[in-house]
Order: sequence, then C-alpha cells, then structure tokens
Amino acid sequence: MKVIRGVNKIWRSRPTVEGAGVRLQRAIGPTEVRDLDPFLLLDDFHSEDPADYIAGFPWHPHRGIETVTYVIRGTVQHGDTMGNKGTIGSGDIQWMAAGRGILHEEMPREYTGMMQGFQLWVNLPASHKMMGPRYRDVRKEQIPSFSPSKGIDIQVVAGKVTGTKGPVKDLVVEAEYLDVTLAPDKQFKHEVTRGNTVFGYLFKGDGSFSGDKDRRARAEDLVLFKDGDEVVARSGKAGVRFLLVSGRPLNEPVAWRGPIVMNTEEELDLAFREYWAGTFVKHDA
Ligand code: CO
Repeated sequence: MKVIRGVNKIWRSRPTVEGAGVRLQRAIGPTEVRDLDPFLLLDDFHSEDPADYIAGFPWHPHRGIETVTYVIRGTVQHGDTMGNKGTIGSGDIQWMAAGRGILHEEMPREYTGMMQGFQLWVNLPASHKMMGPRYRDVRKEQIPSFSPSKGIDIQVVAGKVTGTKGPVKDLVVEAEYLDVTLAPDKQFKHEVTRGNTVFGYLFKGDGSFSGDKDRRARAEDLVLFKDGDEVVARSGKAGVRFLLVSGRPLNEPVAWRGPIVMNTEEELDLAFREYWAGTFVKHDA
C-alpha cells in the first residue's frame, strides 16, 4: 500500500531584503533548517518594478553548499572565480556546487513586466563541503517537459518522472526538482522516496495537497509534507503552479553564517579568516 504524504505544515514566505537591496520573499531560511534538511534556503524574487531587484547580488563568497537558480521570466547576469560568465534567461537553470569556495556575482537585468526567479540552497555533506567547485548551466531547451494527461505539465529539472529524466545529474545530495503546472481542477500524483524531505512552493494560483481539502495553499505558500510514498496535489479554480522538491536529509550539524554553511563554528571562523585574508578561493595545482 502506498502511503499518501499528509501535510505537516504550511507557511507563507516572508518579505526579506537580501544582496545589495533586493526585495524578495523568503520561503525557507535558518529557522526552518531542522524540518527542511538537506535544504537551507529558498528565495522567491518577483517584481514588476526593477527598483526591487536591480541592485542584485554583487561579488560574495559561498562555501559548503550547492545553489540552484531558476529563472522563470527575466535575465540574471553572473560571473564567478571559476571563470564562468554569462546570463541565465527565462526558463534557464544554474546549478552550482560552491564546495570549498567560489566568489560570484548574480545581477538581475531590467525586465519589462513581471520578472521572477528562485534560488534554492542545498546543503553539502561533511564529506563534500571542501570538494572542487562545480558549475552547470542548463538552458530552457534542455529541460524536458512531461504531460501525463491534459492539463498537467511537469518540467523535470532534476530527478525522474515516469521515465523522463531531468538534465541536472550527479548531484551530491540525491534531490528531485520539478516545476508543476495544473489547469483548474486537476489532480496530480507523484511518487517520492520514503524518508526524503519533500516540499512544494506555490507561485501561481492555489490548490489542496495530499487529498486533504482543508489544507489549501496559495501563491507564496510553502507546503511541507509528512513522510510517505506519494504526493497528491489538486488545483483550485484558477489552476496552480508550484515547485516540488525532494531530497535525502543529511542529519549532520549545521553551522551557518551568511553565505557559508559548514558543520562547525571552527570551520566557519576559518572560512571567514580566509575570506578576509584573500585565500578563500583555492585553485587546483
Ligand atoms: Co550567491
């Protein structure tokens, strides 16, 4: 018997100012770490007013995590100390393992209309916190979409839906990342790994989850599921679009300061000492 995952909690994302003054909605942050392992952070930036995002995220370090940037509409320009430089456009994904350390900048460009993007932080296990940095650019055309029936569309960024595999592979933490769109009054069922942390983040419309009509959620809500084998979502009258993300928990201590996430305070202190001394980024050879 497959167990349908119930809803553990639903909460609203919180208005937050990040980077050089970007106004965004934070759905997952330090207070949720215990419930969301291996996920650390989920930011939703969307606005029709460039003044809300144009200041961007100038040069800053990361160590100990992977960052996943998904642009729904708009353009984010980036550059990093690995020599990567380019733009993430509408529908594109950037998946970056900071490992032992990178410096980068992430600068949204002015966009006419509603720009929207997400950044998810996935923790790295102690065994991989000091791995060499890794970077992957995934273009919209490389992200397969899958439609199990009329009115249900799934973009598979990472993981697998009935044989359709996402382009982001070889992740350190086993994770699945789907972008699910349901037309009005549709039901979507999806098998997930038992024991994994699974959440949905709504960014359009509303719906109910796990067959529980009382547990409704709407755009800017995060739905954290209980354990089980299957997620069930049903859209409301206006349809719904949400990210569905699953990952295997690390169950390791988390020491977190700003853009750096390690296991101990000593490792954090070392990271910041290296940053100020200019020895943070370690090149091979
Ligand atoms: Co960053």
